[in-house]
Amino acid sequence: MTTTETTEEAAGAEVRPVPDGRAPVRRQLPRLSEVRELLQFRAPVLDPVKRRLDNALTIEDLRRIGRRTTPRAVFDYVDGAADAEVTASRNLQAFRDAVFIPENLNSVVDPNLSTELLGERIDFPLVFAPTGYTRMMHHEGEAAVARVAQRNNLPYTLSTVGTTAIEGVREAAPEGKNWFQLYLTNNHRLNNELVDRALAAGCTTVVLTIDTAVGGRRLKDVRNGLTIPPSLTVKTFLDMSRFPYWWINKLTTAPIDFASVRDFPGTSADVAALLFDPGLEYEDLAWLRKKWPHNLLVKGIQNPEDARRVMELGADGVVVSNHGGRQLDRTPATLDILPAVREAAGPDATVLLDSGIRHGQDIIAAVANGADAVMIGRAYLYGLMAGGEAGVERAVEILRSEYRRGLQLLGLDATSKIAARHVNIHASSLESSSIQ
Ligand SMILES: Cc1cc2nc3c(=O)[nH]c(=O)nc-3n(C[C@H](O)[C@H](O)[C@H](O)COP(=O)(O)O)c2cc1C
Repeated sequence: MTTTETTEEAAGAEVRPVPDGRAPVRRQLPRLSEVRELLQFRAPVLDPVKRRLDNALTIEDLRRIGRRTTPRAVFDYVDGAADAEVTASRNLQAFRDAVFIPENLNSVVDPNLSTELLGERIDFPLVFAPTGYTRMMHHEGEAAVARVAQRNNLPYTLSTVGTTAIEGVREAAPEGKNWFQLYLTNNHRLNNELVDRALAAGCTTVVLTIDTAVGGRRLKDVRNGLTIPPSLTVKTFLDMSRFPYWWINKLTTAPIDFASVRDFPGTSADVAALLFDPGLEYEDLAWLRKKWPHNLLVKGIQNPEDARRVMELGADGVVVSNHGGRQLDRTPATLDILPAVREAAGPDATVLLDSGIRHGQDIIAAVANGADAVMIGRAYLYGLMAGGEAGVERAVEILRSEYRRGLQLLGLDATSKIAARHVNIHASSLESSSIQ
């Protein structure tokens, strides 16, 4: 007789005979204490933003919430990409196709997620990519993202076309690892001024973006009639009734503009036109290298030869990026070209990768194939649209916990243990990306 049977009989369980010869089912009167244990009612979360963020388990969940809470044209501006969006879907597919190979029976009790990037320790291999017009996605904008970055000991990169000025980010996150992304223009005074201000505001790294000779053609923006800053047309007015909070917040906070280049003469459109400079060439990088005394990364590298050349010109590293598929369409997924770029840049170069990071395991795939860290763009913007600063925090929480669990299930107790043998990207991704 087992212990269970003894207990049940002692509790007065009734044993009913079963006619077909099967073991009898023992029943008992329900006990209140057991029912209480089963019914784990939680106190309702009254704050609707917190409630929806708590329910978001993935970056895709944040994306879905962001789609519901933000005007269509704004969501599409974030979510969309250039032309047929082939590159944007390749980016995602390459990560999905990565094959993970675990090594078990290693103790992974408390993995060390941290890593060293450009001489500084950061909490895990993640950097916030520069994104323009961030206060359009949510009125808390760049300052909120910079604060989240500071709290999590991760670098934040402010865009030249940010809607918060360089000095504003410093004010929001004075202890943060604040970087500045630079668009070089054919206006030398503006270039000089921006670099000087980044230096004065304590930025540790300048990221020069080189993949915007002209603007990519994002068809959704054209079709939605998106203007920057957003303006009230009949269409946007109708949209307004569906997103009153977004509009109230927009209309009751500082106007959306290119805050770092606000004092530059001309309309927003004039300044925007200036920022895409088809004349950009290697001499401009040489000038910047002389002028900027700290870390210099070049963003938008898509082939090994460019990586080699910018390293020869004195860059400290590169960002393998296709701008999230928002510029030239039909380029390769960044993950697919990463190993070749790492080899060309050399072992001492800092190599970052962005475009398509949506899961913590994507970070592992990138690190295994030669990246020191990744940048995220849309992943945090989805969080921002879903719930402002708290939404960005949730995005980081999701990515960090996926990253941690991924390491543990791979049998790795530290970021430094990730190696090429743990993630095979050439098993299927090259074939699938070439037929898309
Ligand atoms: C809405 C939006 C605005 C962006 N603005 C800039 C920018 O001003 N400067 C820049 O270098 N890259 C910009 N990017 C590109 C990002 O820095 C990054 O390369 C890209 O988002 C990475 O892809 P992901 O969104 O799939 O993570 C922008 C991306 C998005 C989605």
